[in-house]
Amino acid sequence: MEDFTSSSSSSSSSSSSPSRFLGFFVLIFAAIWTQIDAANFDYRDALSKSLLFYEAQRSGELPSQQRVKWRGNSALDDGSDGNVNLAGGYYDAGDNVKFGFPMAFTITMLCWGAIEYGRLIDAAGEMGNLRDAIRWGTDYFLRANTGSSELWVQVGDPYKDHNCWQRPEDMESPRKSYLINQTSPGTEVAAETSAALASASIVFQSSDPSYSTKLLQSAIRLFQFADRFRGTFSGGCPFYCSVSGYQDELLWAASWLYKSTGSSMYLSYVIDHADKSGIVSEFSWENKHAGVQVFLSTLYLKGGGFDALKRYKDEADFFFCATLPNTSETQVDRTPGGFIYVRSGANTQYSIGASFLAAVYADSLAKAQVSNTVSCGRTLLHPRDLFNFAKGQADYILGDNPRRISYMVGFGSSFPQQPHHRGASIESVAKLHARVSCGEGFYTWYSSKSPNPNELTGAIVGGPDRDDSFVDVRSNSAQLEPTTYVNAPFVGLLARLTAQI
Ligand SMILES: *[C@@H]1O[C@H](CO)[C@@H](O)[C@H](O)[C@H]1NC(C)=O
Ligand SMILES: *[C@@H]1O[C@H](CO)[C@@H](O)[C@H](O)[C@H]1NC(C)=O
Repeated sequence: MEDFTSSSSSSSSSSSSPSRFLGFFVLIFAAIWTQIDAANFDYRDALSKSLLFYEAQRSGELPSQQRVKWRGNSALDDGSDGNVNLAGGYYDAGDNVKFGFPMAFTITMLCWGAIEYGRLIDAAGEMGNLRDAIRWGTDYFLRANTGSSELWVQVGDPYKDHNCWQRPEDMESPRKSYLINQTSPGTEVAAETSAALASASIVFQSSDPSYSTKLLQSAIRLFQFADRFRGTFSGGCPFYCSVSGYQDELLWAASWLYKSTGSSMYLSYVIDHADKSGIVSEFSWENKHAGVQVFLSTLYLKGGGFDALKRYKDEADFFFCATLPNTSETQVDRTPGGFIYVRSGANTQYSIGASFLAAVYADSLAKAQVSNTVSCGRTLLHPRDLFNFAKGQADYILGDNPRRISYMVGFGSSFPQQPHHRGASIESVAKLHARVSCGEGFYTWYSSKSPNPNELTGAIVGGPDRDDSFVDVRSNSAQLEPTTYVNAPFVGLLARLTAQI
């Protein structure tokens, strides 16, 4: 924790006190402190597992290095209805649709983790796996960006897909491809894809410069397309509807383009287009305002020429004042066990998203020239408070919770056995060669009382209810379904936690 300007080490000077009892009390204190702080998990193991999950979600032709062996090739003809090759990319969750919008957010968050905590990810030996996870998404986006104002943003009819319980390798439901263009625009998804490609261009800058250039070129033109042709793509609705509009994605894309290019054009964009819609208390695949605020605050906090970004620091402060417990401005609910609770269904994402942002903000505040605190009315938050919040939420997920269960599959001794996931809940194609039909999947596998035959290692499920309860039954999709965008911010957060002891 060398980056923190915390005063918690002041007690150590008292060991030179003449009273020999004082040392004893310091020991007792240290013992109690260690007790309180005892929930230190094997974050490195969790980090490795969190990335394995992405291999289970792969669509397309699997590479020979594929580590999740119960999966096989799938959806190789995706895009054929539009005469375009859309093989690859990720299934978003427990179903087999490729939704471009949450997929792009997933990639942006994986990239942010790689950029912010690259040194720690390297030290954990996971940078290669993280780059592979990012590239599986960005290769797909490059193929999907077929013209300067054309982006294929989804493959699979969500209703027909959801009426089947089938392994991806067996899919029979229609693989309809969805296109946005000048006459049918989709500002949110075009801008989010731009953010994903721009942030990835930073990740690959030194390891693969020509790939990085390609990513950036695509990011730049997608941003122009998103900004000029405004409209909302609704083909993912009601599964993925952008309720908060597209202002956040435009600011988010411009921020990442600024980081990647250093061009003042993008900085002016975020200054000129800031508006009141940025007062928020959640961060998710749907609403990125808080991400924009923390990201731009890290520039502002460095000092030197970024004064015009101050409003983003104020808004980021608001986000943390609303999210952390025990401030005079707390708004977000928590379970009795202390876990952030926003709403049913993939609720873990709100905790993980806020925690990743808190870790980044804490690190930035601790080094800042401009300000080292967050002011919430009568309460002042220090970097240590933000960090402890983030660690507490991560520890809850990994097993420090009233039920003593890890919400990451395959981590610890007790974890969910019945994730709501088609591929993981049906015997692998490697063992059961015969096709499992739509209906048979439901009768034989979905309704089975047994644990999933394939361990979906590293997946974080939807998590507990508002009272910390959790019912490990496959049909309970709100609590048992994993998604790529729940795991994505956890990767960076886990990397950060490997350094805290
Ligand atoms: C845009 O895409 C739609 C299908 O989504 C298509 O019907 C339309 O012709 C396209 N417009 C242009 C200008 O290519
Ligand atoms: C918040 O305050 C409540 C009641 O005052 C207290 O029980 C709880 O431990 C506090 N939580 C934290 C995280 O400080």
